[in-house]
Amino acid sequence: MTLAGEKRAVRRKREIPSPDPAALLAWYDRERRELPWRVVPGGAADPYKVWLSEIMLQQTRVETVVRYYERFLARYPTVEALAAAKLNHVLKLWAGLGYYARARNLHACAREVVRRHGGRFPDNEAALRALPGIGAYTAAAVAAIAFGRRAAPVDGNIERVVARLFAVTTPLPAAKPELCRLADSLVPEERAGDFAQAMMDLGATICTPKRPSCLFCPWREACIAFLRGKPEQFPRRGAKANGELRRGAAFVVLRADGAVLLRQRPANGLLGGMTEVPTSEWRADYPDETLTDAPRLAAEWQRVPGRVRHVFTHFPLELTVHRVRVPARTRAPRGMRFVPLARLGDEALPTLMRKVIAHATSERNVTEGRKNASSLYD
Ligand code: ADE
Repeated sequence: MTLAGEKRAVRRKREIPSPDPAALLAWYDRERRELPWRVVPGGAADPYKVWLSEIMLQQTRVETVVRYYERFLARYPTVEALAAAKLNHVLKLWAGLGYYARARNLHACAREVVRRHGGRFPDNEAALRALPGIGAYTAAAVAAIAFGRRAAPVDGNIERVVARLFAVTTPLPAAKPELCRLADSLVPEERAGDFAQAMMDLGATICTPKRPSCLFCPWREACIAFLRGKPEQFPRRGAKANGELRRGAAFVVLRADGAVLLRQRPANGLLGGMTEVPTSEWRADYPDETLTDAPRLAAEWQRVPGRVRHVFTHFPLELTVHRVRVPARTRAPRGMRFVPLARLGDEALPTLMRKVIAHATSERNVTEGRKNASSLYD
């Protein structure tokens, strides 16, 4: 018997009804969130807008995405416009949204859609998956929402909904294939795009990680976890593998004319192609307080009190921040450039670097830092 078949047998034995797609769609028609990339139920969505929104929504909250999405669409209203853009301009517009590989892939994908598909997104999951930056989730979401294909995108919200509906006891991440099969078993032939978005909305607004609002859920009577009185215990999770803490130092060079020293990161890898202040390597055993990796300048470095903390997907990072003031005539070392602080908005500066610069230039730290002046070059 298939897994979905087994689950149906359990329901029959305990007289629990199966989740009815029509009940969820009726709820969606009444309660759906108004979002700028959505069309009215049954309307024809623009594949470019659907794809752009889905890439932005990966790992990022809806409220944050809305602002970026609108700015992005105003600048690049079509896939052709995005394909014709310079990567650096795309990265600048993406700055602050995080997970910058998404922006590089977005640009590469737009170019491929224009070059290989004549500017039209392919309309099925397999062909979508062949494009840069489009994985199983995004291919299913775009196929369903933009093209009405019967497909089941499964992100963290939908995993939670399904794990509760069927009281899946296998812990994540091992449960993922089982949750995908169960999610797929729910998708109706008609209105697959609305159904996918209804699942997303249910997960985001009703079937929340903590204190779910089960009394308002259209699938309450079909949810095994709810009927057992324990929705919050699902999904089960294996021990979380947090990366080891890495440390490093960031060096903020402030020129008397109000400019700060910046450089570009290598094109590939973490924060690839983005702008940064010079930093050391980031590693678990980076020695505290060292100035070994500081740019060589004839001026006195100050250690800014406190540290800047940031969490990447695979590891947390802690940076000490050192600051130096240099005269207005100072030239940038090779491979670096001075940029006026007032023009930082035009730079592809990731959130981490904005935090570092804010930390180095905050009035409180400027005053306290004077007490810690140091001229170490160890
Ligand atoms: N999360 C991911 N995709 C989404 C969408 N299309 N609508 C709302 N939330 C989402």
